[in-house]
Amino acid sequence: MQLQNKTAIITGISKGIGKATALQLLDKGCKVAGLGMTAPDYNHPNLLFIKCDIRKWEEVEPAFEKVKARFGDELHILLNNAGLGYFGLLEDTPLEQWHEMFDTNVSGMFYCCKLALPQMKKQQYGHIINIASTAALEGMPQVSAYCATKWAVKGLSESLFREVRDFRVKVTCLYPGSTKTDFFRNSPGIKPHEYMLMPEDVALNIIQALEMPDNFHTVNLEIRPLLPKGPKS
Ligand SMILES: NC(=O)c1ccc[n+]([C@@H]2O[C@H](COP(=O)([O-])OP(=O)(O)OC[C@H]3O[C@@H](n4cnc5c(N)ncnc54)[C@H](OP(=O)(O)O)[C@@H]3O)[C@@H](O)[C@H]2O)c1
Repeated sequence: MQLQNKTAIITGISKGIGKATALQLLDKGCKVAGLGMTAPDYNHPNLLFIKCDIRKWEEVEPAFEKVKARFGDELHILLNNAGLGYFGLLEDTPLEQWHEMFDTNVSGMFYCCKLALPQMKKQQYGHIINIASTAALEGMPQVSAYCATKWAVKGLSESLFREVRDFRVKVTCLYPGSTKTDFFRNSPGIKPHEYMLMPEDVALNIIQALEMPDNFHTVNLEIRPLLPKGPKS
């Protein structure tokens, strides 16, 4: 896809991978609508921020209408990025954290896909990128609740890819390993460090997937730091 003048919706653009991708898409000439709770600390004539809690259908639906009002009906890219994780033993995980993770990581993604697809199918063109995690590929102790949400993202993405490919809509699921962002704020045992993936590099990978020719479809992208703990001494 040529990115110049295309319209993209990104969930969560205040920081981390969403921010890095928004900035790179803006550089490429895209019109970017960011749906999130915190306004971004950057600005651009082609950036529209819409305050929206993606856990709430009643906020997501009007947010898509606002994007249409500003950028027109056509929608080419949806990056389902917003997400969060809490970690710990399953029996110690508060119900509120379980629901917050599922509402954000899974329901928010479902809502955005549901709202983006009619237009993408109508125009026979579009690319949805869903951010899962390597936690969607293997179970891990103390990560059961977060893993469950990301396995759901994997299932949604792989099924949706088969539902919409004949409409020329691509669905890519991204499985990043540890990335140096604010994500680890709820994980006191892990401090972000230089050997993690950088959000800008994850964003570059997203841009590359978007820029591939129309008949080239990246279904799954597993990306990991080469030396996650640094060189062995
Ligand atoms: N960092 C990692 O190691 C890693 C690895 C694999 C996968 N991931 C996934 O990558 C994605 C991005 O994470 P990140 O590392 O960039 O984390 P981050 O720096 O914490 O950013 C998360 C983003 O999600 C948004 N968000 C959270 N809850 C929201 C809600 N209810 N409504 C709207 N936006 C919401 C936040 O926006 P607001 O500030 O507006 O709330 C923020 O911009 C997540 O899906 C995460 O699970 C991260």
